[in-house]
Amino acid sequence: MPPRINPSILAADFVNLERDLGRIATADLVHVDVMDNHFVPNLTFGPQMVGRIQDVSAIPLDVHLMIDDPDRWAPGYAELGAYSVTFHAEAAADPVRLARRLRAIGARAGIALKPGTPVDDYVDLLPEFDQVLVMTVEPGFGGQSFMAETMPKLARLRSAVDATGADVWLQVDGGITEETIVIAAENGADTFVAGSSVFRAENTERQIALLRDTAAQHLHVSR
Ligand code: DX5
Ligand code: ZN
Repeated sequence: MPPRINPSILAADFVNLERDLGRIATADLVHVDVMDNHFVPNLTFGPQMVGRIQDVSAIPLDVHLMIDDPDRWAPGYAELGAYSVTFHAEAAADPVRLARRLRAIGARAGIALKPGTPVDDYVDLLPEFDQVLVMTVEPGFGGQSFMAETMPKLARLRSAVDATGADVWLQVDGGITEETIVIAAENGADTFVAGSSVFRAENTERQIALLRDTAAQHLHVSR
């Protein structure tokens, strides 16, 4: 399976979002960051906006919920037709129950871990999820620097996923560039969110291809 590149529209021009969605049509999924100004100190948009993005996007939606009380709100995003819905482990009251609900609606269920959140509690639960998002920056803002100290957590997840044989994607998000994608791929990521490095490129299509090719050359050996 080739690596997946999911551009984050947090780095897009919100006033020209449909145009900017057109700039990433060769990507795998569009990463949609929902922030509520409570779970993170930043605010983006909610279900109404995500529904419109769903209407006009040529590629499926990878929704990343940085919100409190995802148990209540996440299913609504799955009902909108999002391909994957990822909620934060730190915010969910009952992650397994929520993941099962998301899957029952028809979305892939993802769980996200902030840089400081240990992975131990989730390793045995891997079959309950379709993807684990290892945050490589503190969630809340685009344009931050990649935190290499999160890589042992990713490597541990990669071994656990390979050991169970479960089809769980391992995603990284934050500070992903053509340089840092090498480290993330080597440590076991197969799905890469990139905001600034895609949207700041003059030629977004070429940048997506560069990221994908670079990751493919460095994918974890057991893949
Ligand atoms: C950060 C968001 C990311 C962000 C990544 O909280 O979850 O998706 O857009 O942006 P870059 O790639 O610029 O670090
Ligand atoms: Zn994100």
